[in-house]
Amino acid sequence: MPLTRKAYRAAILHSIADPAVVGIEASYEYFEDGLLVTENGQISAVGPACELLASLPADIQVSHYQDALITPGFIDTHIHLPQTGMVGAYGEQLLDWLNTYTFPCESQFADKAHAEEVAGIFIKELLRNGTTTALVFGSVHPQSVDSFFEAARTLDLRMIAGKVMMDRNAPDYLTDTAESSYVDSKALIERWHGKGRLHYAVTPRFAPTSTPEQLTLAGQLLSEYHDLYMQTHISENLQEIEWVKELFPERKGYLDVYDHYKLLGERSVFAHGVHLCDDECARLAETGSAIAFCPTSNFFLGSGLFNLPMAEKHNLNVGLGTDIGGGTSFSLLQTLNEAYKVMQLQGARLSPFKSLYLATLGGARALRLEDKIGTLQPGTDADFLVLDYNATPLLGYRLKQAKTIAETLFVLMTLGDDRTVLQTYAAGNLVHQR
Ligand code: GUN
Ligand code: ZN
Repeated sequence: MPLTRKAYRAAILHSIADPAVVGIEASYEYFEDGLLVTENGQISAVGPACELLASLPADIQVSHYQDALITPGFIDTHIHLPQTGMVGAYGEQLLDWLNTYTFPCESQFADKAHAEEVAGIFIKELLRNGTTTALVFGSVHPQSVDSFFEAARTLDLRMIAGKVMMDRNAPDYLTDTAESSYVDSKALIERWHGKGRLHYAVTPRFAPTSTPEQLTLAGQLLSEYHDLYMQTHISENLQEIEWVKELFPERKGYLDVYDHYKLLGERSVFAHGVHLCDDECARLAETGSAIAFCPTSNFFLGSGLFNLPMAEKHNLNVGLGTDIGGGTSFSLLQTLNEAYKVMQLQGARLSPFKSLYLATLGGARALRLEDKIGTLQPGTDADFLVLDYNATPLLGYRLKQAKTIAETLFVLMTLGDDRTVLQTYAAGNLVHQR
């Protein structure tokens, strides 16, 4: 097969470490006039354009962008495919919101044709917003995951998903059983896990909707396969936390329920964690588990303010989640806009480089995929974005006033959204063009 080498010239920025650990200046690489070279779906070089061009054949195809920034693709560590059609559901907090809006909306996935239609819309929306990898909740129906993975495989995307396991405290039309959830999840794992760039996540919805038997079988699945993910929700809402105490009185707290059923580990991602205590953060960190920080959802459902400094104190892995449809935007730029305000309300700062880290390398680390995605290091997947400084008249005008890359980045995260994403590349292929 002939070598498919391509080069992209623009300003280039990527995270190389967590600013909370190494300081801001050592956390990123920036090339004002940079070149990114890709070969057969991977990045083969990144650096100053003048240096790299001298080492490349004169006839190499170069795409040259003015007023643009190349970054790694964004990583969404928590999102629900079957909630695409219910973003912006009025008036309720978590538990009533689930019963009033979420469960009826998810029930439509019993129909495979509906699942396929929404999977197509959902993936298009991810790519329009620059999200190249997501950790995705399906519905309770296996065909939600089949539809999603079929569409993701066609585009050779790196994606993680799982069928919801839910055998109590939900309407009959939307529950499985401990046994059927085990059998159905296993069939999906056999069908999809490790196929191309796809990975499977065992997905108990949250402690209140699973019996002890189902949680036991979720833990068993994790022990039976290599490198499976686990995703669920934790400590999002105060009423929810009280309910978990009633349902599992013998456990020390919410996290201890999951711990007891062996659901913590290096590929376990817990969404929200708004009301976690110090001990729970320590235990999450000790087991290598990660938190998905979902600011638009935590605001929209009135859940509370995530304490990022506490997570940092424990060296806990944190990624960003849009949590569509509790969240209100597919855009991780808009998610960062809200994350900044979460910190402001707690008297803390979120630097633009920490934000970049959360949306890229931090997400990759939360998913244990930092050797494949989240940076532009040679040898990683060619999943990257071209962001347009002139996406809107206001953005263009505002960025002309910016004097540093820090300021440019912060403004992109404040004013930017799907319109800012000019192109999205996955495995070196153009998968979205605005
Ligand atoms: N907790 C249990 N299920 C859900 C869900 O679908 N969305 C959110 N935000 N929290 C949950
Ligand atoms: Zn969620």
